[in-house]
Amino acid sequence: MKQTILVTGGAGYIGSHTCVELLASGYDIVVVDNFSNSKPAVLDRVGQISGQEFPWYEIDVRDRAALARVFGKHRFSGVLHCAGVKSIAEAQRDPLKYYQHNLEASLTLLEEMAERGLKRLVFSSSATVYGECTQIPYREESPLKPNTVYGRSKMVVEDVLHDLASADESWRIAILRYFNPVGAHPSGLIGEDPNGTPNNLMPYICQVAVGKQAELAIFGHDYPTPDGTGVRDYLHVADLAEGHVRALDYLGRETGLVTFNLGTGRGYSVLEVVRAFEHASGRAIPFRYAPRRSGDLASYYADTSRAANTLDWRAKRSLGEMCADAWRWQSKNPGGYA
Ligand code: UD1
Repeated sequence: MKQTILVTGGAGYIGSHTCVELLASGYDIVVVDNFSNSKPAVLDRVGQISGQEFPWYEIDVRDRAALARVFGKHRFSGVLHCAGVKSIAEAQRDPLKYYQHNLEASLTLLEEMAERGLKRLVFSSSATVYGECTQIPYREESPLKPNTVYGRSKMVVEDVLHDLASADESWRIAILRYFNPVGAHPSGLIGEDPNGTPNNLMPYICQVAVGKQAELAIFGHDYPTPDGTGVRDYLHVADLAEGHVRALDYLGRETGLVTFNLGTGRGYSVLEVVRAFEHASGRAIPFRYAPRRSGDLASYYADTSRAANTLDWRAKRSLGEMCADAWRWQSKNPGGYA
């Protein structure tokens, strides 16, 4: 008997790659998405890659009645909760929106799950919850000191999940703290398609490569890092997708709550990423140095030993593959999904 997994935000960047991996691993899926930052075309592409059809619904997870209708139509054995708003800058300007969306979606989903007796959940969190924590690499038990509204909105949901798991031991919950997911499915059919000017490094580099942006601004080159530019733990989105499936499998065997860092465990600087991308794409990426971006940290990366020991999961794909796959997606789809 195949298990059916509900994926919220399944048309998003992480959600879509995870759907591909779930289907490849023998799960059935049902997607819900409000398409606020994604398009239904993504789900056609997921179907094309997988050679499988699956039901999807255009609903907002905060709409309890609509969510209840979806739960009424299918028998789920678990939920992957990827739906959420995720712009750091927008969250600083509009904190109420971020607390409202990210908290209410999670609470509504959890209420519906509890009522139906479905207690197996994988939650998309972020390394951004560690914020100003000075212990590098970040370990799951490192203190959480998020320095942004977005990071705090994720931390609050993590707190709710901890309280829920303490109150009722039959919950099975995995919190996944993503480091910097980049790259795309090797088919070039799905990838990251940011609205407007990208805020994140890899999509910005991709747009420079196709001529949509003139040059990259490197935010800060006086950080205490080997070449002065910021260092992050970039991981291939396909590795991240596999991590979700491992976490879900694990929750089929174990109860309780567990948190996992998902990263490669090593950092690359902005300049190293630029060089790797130039090598993978054969395109020059012109750049200039600009002042540091407010809120940015010099360097951080994951301690990934818990995911390795507990889930037998390791990120396998190299920085070169991340760049080659990001480039394939961008060059085949210069206008994204439009
Ligand atoms: C950001 C988010 C984080 C989110 C992650 C998703 C912040 C503070 N944090 O992390 O919550 O989970 O994206 O991947 O925004 N850079 C440039 N020029 C650019 C863009 C970025 O030099 O045009 C540099 C940054 O200064 C940083 C590195 O590239 O050193 C990575 O930046 P980015 O891709 O935005 O990710 P983070 O800031 O690490």
